[in-house]
Amino acid sequence: MNIQSTTREIKSLAGDALVVGALRKRGSKEVALTSAAQAVNDSLEGLLQEITNAGEFKGGLGEIATIYTMGKLSTRRVVVVGLGSQEDLTGQSIRRASAIATRHLQNTAARQIVLALSEGNGNISLQDSIQAQAEGALLGSYNFRKYQTREQEAKLDSIEIVAPKGHDSAAKAAIARGIAMAEATNFARDLINEPPAVLTPTELANRATSMARKLGMEYEVIDKPQMEELGMGGLLGVARGSVQPPKFIILRYKGAPDGEKGIALVGKGITFDTGGISIKPAANMDEMKGDMGGAAAVIGAMQAIATLKPAINVTAYISSTENMPSGSAYVPGDILRIMNGKTIEIVNTDAEGRLVLADGLSYATREGHSPIIDVATLTGAIVVALGNNHSGLFSNNEQLTQEIIAAGKSVGERFWAMPMDNDFNDNIKSEIADVKQTSTRAGSSITAAKVLQNFVNEETPWAHLDIAGTSYVDSKKPHQEKGATGVAVRTLAEFAVNQAKK
Ligand code: BES
Ligand code: ZN
Ligand code: ZN
Repeated sequence: MNIQSTTREIKSLAGDALVVGALRKRGSKEVALTSAAQAVNDSLEGLLQEITNAGEFKGGLGEIATIYTMGKLSTRRVVVVGLGSQEDLTGQSIRRASAIATRHLQNTAARQIVLALSEGNGNISLQDSIQAQAEGALLGSYNFRKYQTREQEAKLDSIEIVAPKGHDSAAKAAIARGIAMAEATNFARDLINEPPAVLTPTELANRATSMARKLGMEYEVIDKPQMEELGMGGLLGVARGSVQPPKFIILRYKGAPDGEKGIALVGKGITFDTGGISIKPAANMDEMKGDMGGAAAVIGAMQAIATLKPAINVTAYISSTENMPSGSAYVPGDILRIMNGKTIEIVNTDAEGRLVLADGLSYATREGHSPIIDVATLTGAIVVALGNNHSGLFSNNEQLTQEIIAAGKSVGERFWAMPMDNDFNDNIKSEIADVKQTSTRAGSSITAAKVLQNFVNEETPWAHLDIAGTSYVDSKKPHQEKGATGVAVRTLAEFAVNQAKK
């Protein structure tokens, strides 16, 4: 898809459709037209105002009204999209409105569209608005149709985003940032949406390393013999049941001198989670192809970072394997020794994520990175606790917690800080190993995080993001189709960019 900026006048813009924004005025039923919407209204002799006056369109976030211009404008259709209330306008409302309008237009045969949603206001700058429009358009028009043999409808092929005269170069830079963020998110979504027979640990490593190669990043893939040498007993233990060889993938982005250790991102890359010997029920098991959502988020973030080029070092560590039941699989009662020497008593082979992450965190800790952030579709309990809109955030450091929440907020992703009191350690004491793998159902997302904490240092700021509820949607939404969301890609990239500025 081709996305460009334009500073031409609304009247002279050509295409299948023009998208303009309108806002709700707080405490009144009136709709406020943005300047582009006003220009459309003038050209159409007040038609837009007539629609809002009639009450058909109220300006609520994502609301849509379509007008056919009958030759009065050079675009065939105008789509008015609601941006929500004027006072609450954020990058996220613009991104969301852009995604909804773009997805709608793609599904209704538009191929060339022009976006003029908002020039920003006191809350949000012109650049951020343009970036959000570009991001929203690419995220909203994403789909995963490569396995459908029936003839596919054409996708959108070009988008122009309107900027005021004199702002052309700022608009171009904003669009480039939006493309970097959205393409990285969509790359992560592709990895998650691929069937598990295609996206094996080997294929995950291939896709991650070819992306790295293209963007000039260093990479390394650690295979089984080297894992054995390193003592990666968590990853090796989980991998025992699978015929697919496990892979430990390392990607290194260098934006600062070599001596600086920089940030570590650690991802859970279970390419399919059957539960292993503690096998899962059949219902919705297909969604467990997304159990490499943490790995995908980390790999996607590395793509965005390598494109945006912040002055900081960032290293990704991905533990990837399947979790399968078989005659060679690990079983409850086993004790696994993790790379940092600590042992874990296995009680449920379905709690495999913490085991593979333990090796990833041990590796990142040994390398001396700070901060360390791991991302994982770790627990069903986080879905019960927070639902599908907030990811769980667990950390040993308040500043890091606030920085991640802030990075998330600016890209439109929500993280919720969870308790990490040491009281929870009582639940994971083992009589025969250093740590017990799981406890009871009570607070089990927190005990999972407490298990992970055994593999980082107290002094190193560390955060664990549990994206089990946010990484995958099981039904389509106005702004996106069913499947992977690519959550955390943009938050991690934004976080790295912000850290580089510190
Ligand atoms: N991959 C699952 C967690 C999950 C659940 C991700 C739902 C996405 C959606 C994880 O490996 C798992 O099975 N966790 C168990 C842990 C339990 C056995 C302690 C869970 O959450 O039930
Ligand atoms: Zn599991
Ligand atoms: Zn899992």
